[in-house]
Amino acid sequence: MNFVEEINRLRKEKNAVIMAHYYQESAIQDIADYVGDSLALAQWAAKTDASIIVMCGVHFMGETAKILSPDKKVLIPDAEAGCSLADSCPADKFAEFIKQNPGHTVISYVNTSAAVKALTDIVVTSTNARKIVDSLPKDEKIIFGPDRNLGNYINSVTGRNMLLWDGACTVHEQFSVEKIVELKKQYPNAKVLAHPECKKAVLLLADFVGSTQAILNYAGKTDDKEFIVATESGILHKMRLAYPDKNFIPAPPADSTCACNECAYMRLNTMEKLYNCLKNETPEVTVDEAVAREAVKPILRMLELSK
Ligand code: 13P
Ligand code: SF4
Repeated sequence: MNFVEEINRLRKEKNAVIMAHYYQESAIQDIADYVGDSLALAQWAAKTDASIIVMCGVHFMGETAKILSPDKKVLIPDAEAGCSLADSCPADKFAEFIKQNPGHTVISYVNTSAAVKALTDIVVTSTNARKIVDSLPKDEKIIFGPDRNLGNYINSVTGRNMLLWDGACTVHEQFSVEKIVELKKQYPNAKVLAHPECKKAVLLLADFVGSTQAILNYAGKTDDKEFIVATESGILHKMRLAYPDKNFIPAPPADSTCACNECAYMRLNTMEKLYNCLKNETPEVTVDEAVAREAVKPILRMLELSK
């Protein structure tokens, strides 16, 4: 079967839009109508006039799209595509944490379940977290969850002392200083680009820290020609397409012979599953209406503050 032809036929027939995160396999990125970071995916989902959104990413991205566009059908190629970071913050435990620390504004990273967003005052992504935190009064007490690495990073660049939830992404936590230093011996001129979900030691040796979109933009703006990239290796596809004269080297995970680091959840989505999900209109992402009514508020606040 020619999946490209079939997917093209079905999306036209069903007025469906295909959105993909930068961590998707190359073939999915190539066929998607939109490819972007978590923030861009939310922004596009909020304004599309398609009848169906196929979210090629992980479950929380589908939930965010559904919360923003409740009248659309939101599909995800593999319903098991979850997120270790979202899993590190169960809603009942997070509610308890908020209760134990009253008087705080609650900021949650978009990598959370809809139930956690419903407990939140403002949602952020790695692209806008610094800007949004900076927009709040200096003495505002803030709880930040669930990523301790992003939270620590934002504390360090904003001079805040946000109270952090102790969660992490198992993919980004695997990048190690040792492996990157070894790579630097091979590529002494390479600049290190790292996602803020990486551990502090990796961020300290990085030449640039930013979201997937910011990393992509930075590689284009600088005159440097060689980069070691410490985030999920799917982003290298767009980097190589956008800047074919530059050399992008994926940072490997620690304790592994693999040359690059892939998110097992993101990579559950395949072209075959994308085709099946368009054809059968399943798996569908649904969000409890009462939860969605609360969760939409901090997401809309984020979209407003990101303008
Ligand atoms: P961004 O899309 O904000 O760069 O986040 C990366 C990520 O971990 C998505 O799961
Ligand atoms: Fe979640 Fe990490 Fe995968 Fe992103 S890379 S979807 S944060 S597990």
